[in-house]
Amino acid sequence: MKEQLRSIEAKAQEAISNVADLKALDDLRVRFLGKKGELTAILKQMGKLSAEERPAMGQLANQVRSTLEGLIADKTAALQAAAQNARLAAETLDITMPGTKPPVGRLHPLQIVENEVREIFLGMGFSVADGPEVEYDYYNFEALNLPPDHPARDTQDTFYITDNILLRTQTSSVQVHVMETQKPPIRVISPGRVYRSDAVDATHSPLFHQIEGLVIDKGITMADLKGTLELLMQRLYGDDCKIRLRPHHFPFTEPSAEVDVMCFQCMGKGCRMCKNEGYIELLGAGMVHPWVLENSGIDSSAYSGFAFGLGLERIVMRRYNISDMRLLFENDMRFLEQFRG
Ligand code: DAH
Repeated sequence: MKEQLRSIEAKAQEAISNVADLKALDDLRVRFLGKKGELTAILKQMGKLSAEERPAMGQLANQVRSTLEGLIADKTAALQAAAQNARLAAETLDITMPGTKPPVGRLHPLQIVENEVREIFLGMGFSVADGPEVEYDYYNFEALNLPPDHPARDTQDTFYITDNILLRTQTSSVQVHVMETQKPPIRVISPGRVYRSDAVDATHSPLFHQIEGLVIDKGITMADLKGTLELLMQRLYGDDCKIRLRPHHFPFTEPSAEVDVMCFQCMGKGCRMCKNEGYIELLGAGMVHPWVLENSGIDSSAYSGFAFGLGLERIVMRRYNISDMRLLFENDMRFLEQFRG
């Protein structure tokens, strides 16, 4: 029996030392120390021993049991620690590593400047009106005093959907919608896309953007027009920016003017950038033609107003010194990433 006990002890010791996981270790515990285990089986035979042999055997059996229990406890602790370490190693998070930045979008330079212009006009009490890009001939031309045979239509050829429906060539069409639906006093701007049948080059695109302005109230004069536009340009280009009004002709304004800003390169002296003019043409403007007012239901003997339309691309190109308009439409990230709104 002594040999049996020693052999169980040796077998168990070897098995415990080789075991690799907690489940297998528990199986071993059951196998050797459990109720139906090998050691228990031996103990059950103790009754067959003589009274002299029994105490010594009992002692040895207890010693084997406690040795094995001790080994199992140590092994359990060792396996638990190993499992814990493995988990820690696997879950390690190096918080000093640089993260992966998701690509973040940003505003297009056209949108940046449009937002700025909106803010400037909101500050002057204007509201923003919207109008359709697919427009009736009537709103784009006729109601603006450009009847079907008017020669000025030639400079604004566009894309026709039917004889009567076209892609608008100017945001001036929104003036008519606003006058039809609002009563004076009116103070609106209307930014948006416009279209013309032009070939693409450094300064032309069949799609571009304008911002229209319209003010109608009692006693509005050319001085209001000039003051408003001067403030706009000073906000956009700096307080020392000067503007100049040159007589011009637009069918829907009388008198009409083209508005130039002083060249920032030479401050009015004349240089290559302004083609020796000292000024750069930026927008068209004028006092709303009485016929246009009356045609849209506004009494021209009581009210007067001014209007203007500026090309957004031109303002953006001046602002950021961009020499080719195509850059604004090609969506090259290397170009677009340079602008922050
Ligand atoms: N719509 C004109 C154009 O596209 C610009 C313009 C001129 C707008 C005079 C106006 C204005 O409102 O009064 O060339």
